[in-house]
Amino acid sequence: MSFLHNKNILLGVTGGIAAYKSLTLVRRLKEQGANVQVVMTEAAQEFIRPLSFQALSGNTVHLSLLDPAAEAAMGHIELARWADLIVIAPATANSMARLANGEANDLLSTLCLASKAPLAIAPAMNQAMWANTATQENLQILQQRQVVILGPVAGEQACGDVGDGRMMEADEIVEKIQQLFSHQALSGVRVLVTAGPTREAIDPVRYLSNHSSGKMGYAVAQAALEAGASVELVSGPCALSADKRIRLYRIESAEDMLQAVHENLAQVDIFIAVAAVADYRPQQVAVQKIKKQAGSMSIELIRNPDILASVAALENKPFCVGFAAETEKLEQHARLKLQQKKLDMVVANRVDKSDSGFNSEYNSVTVIWDKGSKVFEKTTKSRLATDLIALIAGHFKQQKK
Ligand SMILES: Cc1cc2nc3c(=O)[nH]c(=O)nc-3n(C[C@H](O)[C@H](O)[C@H](O)COP(=O)(O)O)c2cc1C
Repeated sequence: MSFLHNKNILLGVTGGIAAYKSLTLVRRLKEQGANVQVVMTEAAQEFIRPLSFQALSGNTVHLSLLDPAAEAAMGHIELARWADLIVIAPATANSMARLANGEANDLLSTLCLASKAPLAIAPAMNQAMWANTATQENLQILQQRQVVILGPVAGEQACGDVGDGRMMEADEIVEKIQQLFSHQALSGVRVLVTAGPTREAIDPVRYLSNHSSGKMGYAVAQAALEAGASVELVSGPCALSADKRIRLYRIESAEDMLQAVHENLAQVDIFIAVAAVADYRPQQVAVQKIKKQAGSMSIELIRNPDILASVAALENKPFCVGFAAETEKLEQHARLKLQQKKLDMVVANRVDKSDSGFNSEYNSVTVIWDKGSKVFEKTTKSRLATDLIALIAGHFKQQKK
């Protein structure tokens, strides 16, 4: 489930060259489960035909304010009330000026005045138009009124200029919109996340560990924070830093992690074990550095504690989510883990592909729970974390009911 599931998004399309990008935006919003109604200005209809938006949104496109037939179907006030969010993409310099002035001389501007829904705009225009003092002053007025400004981004423009003024890509706009909605999903909820690898000492200078970078765990902690949760993060050694609002505990070994988790578990509602905890540790940790010898040597390994299982076995256990790093039989192994450890959800993570999983910016996972599963295709760990938190929040709330 996405934060956009069943959300009503009113998309305003104004007359800029980037209007074609909003077709992709409608598709992406629909993929996330949002209901989309499109309003086009007169100028926008010169760039893209309403029929394309109608086909993609599944709804008749709204084009005119003073149209009795349209008013009888879904009137402008009804449309203004329907919206959970109004997004204008692309937002022309002209539409920004009209919004800043509070004009109501076409359907879109009237809806913006009549609606109590938050407003987000994705400006797109020639870099000189964007830099113009008039546009910048309008921008300031809109920012003061809490309008969410998405972009613009810098780059080469349709007119050949280079600079600020390109519309943000559809995927990034969807990510930002998700974040806007995510703010309430976990408000008042305490989340404890583990991340990174553990290091199991062999002697004072050597250790056993794994390739976990901590990126997925840190992204999950950040996404939970952005969803309004109060977040604690128990992290194995890694080079990442966490948002200042996350309480971070840095540890080395699996035993340290076990202790830190149990010390901080009181009042935790959701426990998400992302860390790649070493299953084994050397039985003996040499006090001095082990000297090189002729021939081979062996190290006796003993089992480390299973941190996730120890939390899931508690009488007052939090909602428990485990990550299963697998190189084969992904779903089968993950489902076994779900049942054996009595977890609420398992995120099965393929770590045998070099372009996703451990140490990569990307990941693709399958989430498994008692009565279902959901595949998340390869995407950035940050976007995946937002989607995972939305899914976890949905199941957590359902369980609490
Ligand atoms: C080919 C062409 C491309 C345009 N592209 C943009 C643009 O990217 N951004 C912008 O602010 N205005 C652009 N304009 C100007 C707007 O279309 C014009 O200001 C129009 O009045 C906007 O109306 P609207 O804001 O009601 O949609 C463009 C005009 C033409 C002819």
